[in-house]
Amino acid sequence: MSFADRARSALARAAVRTQQRNEGPPRTTRADLVEWARAHLPDRKLVVVSNREPYSHHHDGERIRTVRNAGGLTVALDAVMQALGGVWVAHGNGDADRQVVDAFDRVPCPPEHPRYSLRRIWLTREEHAGYYAGFANGALWPLCHIVYVRPRFRLEDWKSYQEVNRRFARVVLEEVGDEPALVFLQDYHLALAAKYIKEKRPDLQVAMFWHIPWPNPEVFRVLPWKHELLEGMLANDVIGFHIQRHSTNFLDSVAESMEARVDFERMAVDRDRQRTWVHAAAISVDADEIAAMSEAPEARRAEIEIRSELQLQDCKVGLGVDRLDYTKGIPERFEALDRLFEKYPEWQGRFAFIQVGVPSRIELKEYRNVQLATRRWAERLNNRYPRPMGPTVHLIEGNLDFRELVPYYRLADLCAVTSLHDGMNLVAKEYLSASPDREGSLVLSPFTGAARELERASIVSPYDCEGLADAFHHALSEDPDSRKERMGALRETVLRRNIFDWTIELLDTIVRTRLRTPGME
Ligand code: UDP
Ligand code: G6P
Repeated sequence: MSFADRARSALARAAVRTQQRNEGPPRTTRADLVEWARAHLPDRKLVVVSNREPYSHHHDGERIRTVRNAGGLTVALDAVMQALGGVWVAHGNGDADRQVVDAFDRVPCPPEHPRYSLRRIWLTREEHAGYYAGFANGALWPLCHIVYVRPRFRLEDWKSYQEVNRRFARVVLEEVGDEPALVFLQDYHLALAAKYIKEKRPDLQVAMFWHIPWPNPEVFRVLPWKHELLEGMLANDVIGFHIQRHSTNFLDSVAESMEARVDFERMAVDRDRQRTWVHAAAISVDADEIAAMSEAPEARRAEIEIRSELQLQDCKVGLGVDRLDYTKGIPERFEALDRLFEKYPEWQGRFAFIQVGVPSRIELKEYRNVQLATRRWAERLNNRYPRPMGPTVHLIEGNLDFRELVPYYRLADLCAVTSLHDGMNLVAKEYLSASPDREGSLVLSPFTGAARELERASIVSPYDCEGLADAFHHALSEDPDSRKERMGALRETVLRRNIFDWTIELLDTIVRTRLRTPGME
């Protein structure tokens, strides 16, 4: 029986209680997570570490505005930290961030009802350019997402990446003090942090979750500092990936590049008296909370307002919600919409598409290009297929607060997730959670982690323009009964495995590694 299975069975009783409290399938709740933490993490400080902060502060005229940052990592971990409390260490990059912190660079979060402490780290412009834009997003991001964008490897970026990882490690050690703690590092920005932490505190439990894909060794081997990067990661006690394929790719990369004992059976690496367990656990969302938000009167009212503002009465609506990232397949989506209108002209004037595009990493030219391409496509589709009452493509360029996003999920007859490669994709799961009436349809790329679980979605390759146009047509024409049945099954899949399951599964794996790992004298 795996750790995950044991954790699940330990939670079975709690799940039954949950079922009694709520309608629908049995599921793990925030309260279950809190109960688990009380039993298994007593007196142990939880320190979550990521580059992106969950909330940033910005000047807005005279006042300071709080923004909840978009991105799957921060959104998911915020739900966890709200349940468990602790410290979250992250880069403070809002223009008013410094104004709101205390003498220790801390600010309580979430700002409206604080549950945990955010400790901000300050980076210089040069460090941001080298570590974040240069190495993390110019080298590792394209290396790990196989979308034919060439990674750029520059020695000065790598040096900056090492330096900033050291800084994160120092701040974590400050936060931990002499206490026992569980340090949970997030993502490809922090591959070396565990090594620097363990150099000073070998007794600390340190784990990391890699939120993006891990490529196969043929791709990974081009990284000039592959050895050093893996060495940094193998200082973790546990490394998590969303899916089994990424975990196996990681082990393959270690086997190819390092002198280490790689155990594919146990999913573990032994090296220099350190064992690292590798574990696949698909991240998810707080589906119940999203469902409740979507059913609230404000969301219903906002849906009606959007419909009337965009003149969407008597019109089916498609939706895309993405950072403007070249991995998300946004131009490919628009090209397929063009083909849909061409091949199935009955949709002209009767189908409109809303695209929420969050500007992202605009210091890199590939990101500016995708932003321009998205605008051009929207303009082109609006010119070619005008709708008498409102736009055919409505592009919202900006980071919507989650509450503003929910009414869009509610009103969409179809949600298009067309990533060329994506670790998970939480938008797919949020859309399903926010569709309580089971009206709707999910068109999903097979190159997302989410497609492994959401197999009953309409799964189509974004590289297949004709197939994608056909999928849009079928999704819009499917008879209401089978659509409801399919949406119901997909929605239940997300309700049954939510963010609290992910957290318990991973934290339980981390906690139990101590019991399982033999002394490596
Ligand atoms: N998101 C948001 N506001 C927006 C657009 C997106 O808060 O205007 C959130 C969205 O709700 C989701 C996350 O950003 O939780 C995107 O996560 P996903 O895993 O789909 O992609 P990522 O950006 O992490 O690659
Ligand atoms: C992905 C990455 C996260 C990142 C997010 C937003 O989800 O896995 O680490 O925070 O994108 O990107 P950004 O560069 O704005 O933090």
